[in-house]
Amino acid sequence: MKKSKIAGIGYYVPDNIYTNEDLTKFMDTSDEWITERTGIKERRYADRLDETTTDMGVKAAKTAIERAGTTAQDIDFIIFATLSPDYYFPGCAVLVQRELKMKEVGALDIRNQCSGFVYALSIADQFIKTGMYKNILIIGSEKHSFALDYSTRGRSISVIFGDGAGAVVMQPTDKKEQGILSTHLHSDGEEAEKLAMIYPGSAAGKGLENRPNWPDQELGGLLMTPEMLEDGSAYPYMDGQAVFKKAVVKFPEVIHEALSENNLKTTDIDLLIPHQANLRISQFVQRSLKLRDDQVFNNIQKYGNTTAASIPIALCEAWEQGKIKEGDLICLAAFGAGFTWGSALLYW
Ligand code: ACO
Repeated sequence: MKKSKIAGIGYYVPDNIYTNEDLTKFMDTSDEWITERTGIKERRYADRLDETTTDMGVKAAKTAIERAGTTAQDIDFIIFATLSPDYYFPGCAVLVQRELKMKEVGALDIRNQCSGFVYALSIADQFIKTGMYKNILIIGSEKHSFALDYSTRGRSISVIFGDGAGAVVMQPTDKKEQGILSTHLHSDGEEAEKLAMIYPGSAAGKGLENRPNWPDQELGGLLMTPEMLEDGSAYPYMDGQAVFKKAVVKFPEVIHEALSENNLKTTDIDLLIPHQANLRISQFVQRSLKLRDDQVFNNIQKYGNTTAASIPIALCEAWEQGKIKEGDLICLAAFGAGFTWGSALLYW
């Protein structure tokens, strides 16, 4: 059976740089607090009105398609991972199909937040192994800045996230030391609301203490109320300590799972690209796996947490910097909202 390989990779980040110091104009925070707790020094924000999640994804995709030596017309399936889509529906994958004037191929959006790229890679891997598709475009793209609370009330979340996009083209390969060895996907919905954006949603805040006063009417009207912006419930919520505790257990667990499935050891990893959640989490994972500094790549310092885009952006940057060579063993690992987590082990 054929394996799947990353044939081309690209990323795009907006030009607008916001340093920690810049954020002090909007909220009571400091470079010291943000650096110490998250490692982040700056992040990029898309143009507020004129640059969408899809626009960024398309830019990353164009580079990935060109580097794969193919054209948009050759792509036979699109997977788009994001938690910040252009529209509530339809998804972004169809907008990419339109923008790149692609054939009438299948277009799938997935909603797995920080694990979105690893989930997408796993889906693409199955389609290529079965022979169903030969050129799959995967995009991870986020425009977090449209929905963060930039007042002091939202500071523990807003300082963490940034905008950007990464993309890969997956193709079949016969080579022994090339391509995806295995992928591993997990979830535990027990703490789903500990990292969540509840509204707008058809649950209408059922079971939550801060459920807003909905308009008194027989049907409908449960999408959004002005009170939700005022009381902050319209914005994402994160129990940072709960996320930290679970992430530092699940990252190493799912990396060990991938290694043991392939009879490999942590010393065999040439480069680990962890989802860029928080530098403290990556450092904790590195220590618990006893990896050297040159075995782990982090760029959260420059871009913040770009959720579904973070792994392809980091992978692309590491490759562009010459830190990944043909035949290297690369481990990708992610953990995020849901909670969901996963890993992928591949030879470059
Ligand atoms: N600037 C200054 N002070 C702040 C800020 C800020 N940006 N944010 C919060 N504070 C204050 C709080 O108000 C609080 O003040 P108080 O003691 O007077 O009440 C104090 O700092 C401590 O707040 P905590 O929320 O308890 O801070 P904590 O030490 O837990 O750090 C953090 C918060 C950085 C989010 C931490 O919990 C963490 O690293 N969690 C992991 C979550 C994470 O990384 N998520 C990434 C996204 S999810 C993912 O990708 C998996």
